[in-house]
Amino acid sequence: MKIVVLSGAGISAESGLPTFRGAGGLWNGVRAETLATPEAFADDPQRVLDFYNFRRAMVRDAEPNAAHRAVAALEQRHQVTVVTQNVDNLHERAGSTDVLHVHGEIMTARSSRTPSLKLAMQDRDIRLGDLAEDGAQLRPDVVWFGETVRHIDDSLDRIRAADRFLVVGTSLQVWPVADWVHHAVNAGERVIVAPELARCPDGFDWLRGNACEHVPRVAERWLDA
Ligand code: OAD
Repeated sequence: MKIVVLSGAGISAESGLPTFRGAGGLWNGVRAETLATPEAFADDPQRVLDFYNFRRAMVRDAEPNAAHRAVAALEQRHQVTVVTQNVDNLHERAGSTDVLHVHGEIMTARSSRTPSLKLAMQDRDIRLGDLAEDGAQLRPDVVWFGETVRHIDDSLDRIRAADRFLVVGTSLQVWPVADWVHHAVNAGERVIVAPELARCPDGFDWLRGNACEHVPRVAERWLDA
């Protein structure tokens, strides 16, 4: 079977990484425009770098959890694509091999002038004055508000072709990804795992609760299918 897993910050919450919205969220009491836009980086690059350096260190110290591992285990029997809004690398570290990072990757830096000039940045901070090959300041290789979401066509192709679709840990508040849940037209089963949701998308079974509780159960069932 072809399976697509669409994940958001909630799948990494039980690994100790904060979500964006809700209690304890990164955007709580902060305007996202002051930290996650090209304008914010132009205005106060140190503030933006500090925010991402802090989050990079948290990702480095975090471990994949039972939900990431269950998603990876699905590859034993199925063709699995993970479409993730997460910039962490916990899906890969759990063993998933086909991961589309639509909002970029925090463990990579890139030139602020030439997006294709990239550099692995696993072990240290990006500092003001760290330059790419083209002489421009390095920045995190993440997608900021106002920038183009990546892998749109690929993600939509995989979602449309999926036999099973699992959505986990996303508030579905950010476009265009929020709209992608409506494109799984061929899926025999559509499941969403979330402790709370403003509204369950049409055609989905909502498993109310945490990723580590529900994702391993869904994966076990799909491994037997
Ligand atoms: P959000 O923080 O908006 O939503 C996280 C969702 O996960 C919420 O619905 C929570 O209820 C749920 N959640 C919390 N703990 C959970 C757990 N243990 N198991 C399962 N679900 C849990 O995060 P995203 O939807 O990923 O973009 O946010 C989308 C985008 O908004 C992010 O990629 C980021 C942000 O602004 C950029 O920075 C461009």
